[in-house]
Amino acid sequence: MHLTQALLGILALSFAAALPQEPVETETTLLPSESSTVQSQTSQASIPPETFSTSTLPPSETNTLAPSTTSEAISEPTTGGETLRCSGRTARKEVRQMKQDGDWDAFIGAYMSLVSDGTLASYVNQHVQSWGFAHFNAHFLPYHRIFLKKFEEDLQSRGARYLPYWDSSADSQDLLNSQILTAEFFGKLASDGTIQDGPFSRGNYSTPVDGLPLTRGYKEGDTLYAFPLIQNAINNPSFSGMSEDIEYGQHAVVHSIIGGASGSMSVQTSPNDPLFFLHHCYVDYIFYKWQLQNPGSPFEADNYNLGRMTPNEIIAPWNVPVRNAWTVDQACVGYEDPDPNVVKVAGNGTIRPPSNATAWLNNAGANKTVAKTVAKKATENVKKVKED
Ligand SMILES: *[C@@H]1O[C@H](CO)[C@@H](O)[C@H](O)[C@H]1NC(C)=O
Ligand SMILES: *[C@@H]1O[C@H](CO)[C@@H](O)[C@H](O)[C@H]1NC(C)=O
Ligand SMILES: *[C@@H]1O[C@H](CO)[C@@H](O)[C@H](O)[C@H]1NC(C)=O
Ligand SMILES: *[C@@H]1O[C@H](CO)[C@@H](O)[C@H](O)[C@H]1NC(C)=O
Repeated sequence: MHLTQALLGILALSFAAALPQEPVETETTLLPSESSTVQSQTSQASIPPETFSTSTLPPSETNTLAPSTTSEAISEPTTGGETLRCSGRTARKEVRQMKQDGDWDAFIGAYMSLVSDGTLASYVNQHVQSWGFAHFNAHFLPYHRIFLKKFEEDLQSRGARYLPYWDSSADSQDLLNSQILTAEFFGKLASDGTIQDGPFSRGNYSTPVDGLPLTRGYKEGDTLYAFPLIQNAINNPSFSGMSEDIEYGQHAVVHSIIGGASGSMSVQTSPNDPLFFLHHCYVDYIFYKWQLQNPGSPFEADNYNLGRMTPNEIIAPWNVPVRNAWTVDQACVGYEDPDPNVVKVAGNGTIRPPSNATAWLNNAGANKTVAKTVAKKATENVKKVKED
C-alpha cells in the first residue's frame, strides 16, 4: 500500500473511532405532527445533515426527487429501528493480507463453526427470502452492507478478527491461476465441477442448506472486471447509476463466472459458497470508495427500476433502517486498501472486456435491457482505457 493510502486509512479509522458510537439521534428533529405527514419534504427534513446531506440540492429541487411511487415508503417511521453494534471495529483487509497477518486460520475456524451450528444456513435462507427486495433495485448495496455486518458479528463471536474481502479485480485477467482458487484459500476446481482440495473441498465441506458439494464453473479465458472498469462505475456521481453499474456489472460477472451455468455462486442460494461473502465484501468496499468520492452523498435512489428507496426502510430480519447503515461509520465497518505487494495484479496491464454474466443474470431474473446496457458500457470503457 502506498504510504498516503495507509495514512488515509488510519486517519479514517481513528476519526471514525472518535465519533459517537450511537448514530445521531433523530427524534428531536421531527415534531409528531410532521412525522405523520406523507410528504417527501418531511422525510428530507428528518434526515440528520451529518448522515444524509441534501446540501447539493437547493430545497426546492429536493422535493422533485420523490416520484409518486414513494408515498408508501415515506409513510414509514423516520426514527427508531435497531442500530448496529459498534464494538470491535476492525479494518477489513484483502484475504491474502489476512493470511499474511496470520488471521486466516481463526477466520476459517469461525466460518466452519457457523456452518456446523446452522447459522450459515440461516444466512443462505435469508438471502433467498429477501431476493426481490435486495436485488435489482436501490436496496442492493445497503441490504448487503447490513447482511455482511451481521455475518461479521457472528464470525467475531467465534474468534475471527473480521470478514476479509476478495479483490477479484487483481485476478481479473488470469483467473485460472488465481491463488484464491487453490488449496491455500478456496480450493481448486475439479473436472466434475466440485472442489478438489482445501477447506472447502468435496470431502471437507458441503453446502449449508442442502448438504451438497460446492460447485463452480469458471473456465479458460474467463475475465472479470479489471480495476479501471470498476473505477468508471465509482466515477458515476449518481448513487442509482453507480449501484446499477456495479450490480449488473462487476458483481454479476463474478457470480456468473465463478458459478458457471448452474454452480453454487450462480443461484439465489449463493451464500452457500464462502466466496459469496468475500465477493460481496469487495462490492461493499467499492460502495465505500464511491462514498469517499461523493462525501455526504445525498440519499438519492430514484430512477432505479423498482423505484425510490428512502433512508427509513427497514432491512429485515434485523430491523435496521437503511439510515442506520448508510455509511461505513454507521455500519461500524472499515476498510484497508489492498497492498499491491501482497495482492498482485495478474497480467501485463492489458485489459480485456469482462466475460458475459448471462448465467447469473438469467438465474437471478435480471432486467435484460439494463444488463445489455451495462455490458456495453464495460466494453466501451475497455476501449477508452486502451486509448488513455
Ligand atoms: C480438508 O482440509 C484440510 C485442512 O484445510 C486439508 O489438510 C485437507 O487436505 C482437506 N481435504 C481434502 C480432501 O482436500
Ligand atoms: C499482454 O497479454 C495479452 C494476453 O493476455 C496479449 O494479447 C498481449 O499481447 C500482451 N501485451 C504485451 C504488451 O505483452
Ligand atoms: C453470453 O453467453 C451466452 C452463453 O454462452 C450466449 O448465448 C450469449 O449470446 C452471450 N451474450 C452476449 C451479450 O455476449
Ligand atoms: C427494464 O429496464 C428498462 C430501463 O430501465 C425499463 O424501461 C423496463 O421497463 C424494465 N423492464 C422490466 C421488465 O422491468
